[in-house]
Amino acid sequence: RTVYVNGTYLPEEEAKVSVFDRGFLFADGVYEVTSVLDGKLIDFPGHARRLQRSLDELGMSSPVGMDVLLTIHRDLIAKNDLSEGMIYLQITRGAPSDRDFVFPDPETTQPTLVLFTQAKGLIDSPAARTGLKVISIDDIRWGRRDIKTVQLLYPSMGKMMAKAAGADDAWMVENGFVTEGTSNNAYIVSGNRIVTRNLGNEILHGITRAAVLQFAREAQMEVEERPFSIDEAKEADEAFITSASTFVMPVVAIDGVSLGDGTPGPVARRLREIYIEQSR
Ligand code: PDD
Repeated sequence: RTVYVNGTYLPEEEAKVSVFDRGFLFADGVYEVTSVLDGKLIDFPGHARRLQRSLDELGMSSPVGMDVLLTIHRDLIAKNDLSEGMIYLQITRGAPSDRDFVFPDPETTQPTLVLFTQAKGLIDSPAARTGLKVISIDDIRWGRRDIKTVQLLYPSMGKMMAKAAGADDAWMVENGFVTEGTSNNAYIVSGNRIVTRNLGNEILHGITRAAVLQFAREAQMEVEERPFSIDEAKEADEAFITSASTFVMPVVAIDGVSLGDGTPGPVARRLREIYIEQSR
């Protein structure tokens, strides 16, 4: 694989980042995952806008403009002959000469920019046919989940807890209400009505979420953006998640409680089809 580090394309074995990098020492960095379908990026402008917002919120800046980032994405797709999968992008506050909690002076410490590709079958996914089982776990993350930082230890532990419980993923719950999945946004469906948590600091503002809600409204589905409890979720007809790496993925059980007949629901299946069709 050819990866990108700070202005250079090179084989992954040769790519290096300093041990003093603040992404490594403090999780002081932000990231984006953009999906690639048929060799084309899905919704790059949306990811670029969210990246800029994450950077602004943390007082960081990108070493290159968004137009250059787009070029790097396209170069990596070409160099790696990527037809289906994702591009991962990470920007950290860089590598000052010592470990220090205080942010380094941006005049002397340049941010670190890393991008790489990851091939993955997005369309023909077995999980889309069977649906996912999720468990609920406490949401103990920090209060700025709207910033896409690389602090992913708890989401990573959540996936491990799900695996240990024989499930596929976890939905996080705060004060009885579902915030989001470990790496995706969460939805429940009753009849023709889709409910998903409203935007705020409690969840990541998913790029796939924005697209899917728009497609749902265009297809005359009802959309309610509000918190829903984990109890309400277990009573729903169906459920699903969205993210750049899963598109729309049905959820068929929550904490061992099957939804509907325990197979992917019609709304989730239809939205997945629409999303794929519209992204091509
Ligand atoms: N995760 N919520 C969280 C906590 C996420 O980490 C993600 C994305 C989403 C969905 O956002 P989007 O639709 O823009 O991908 C929601 C990425 C895919 C990841 O960490 O791999």
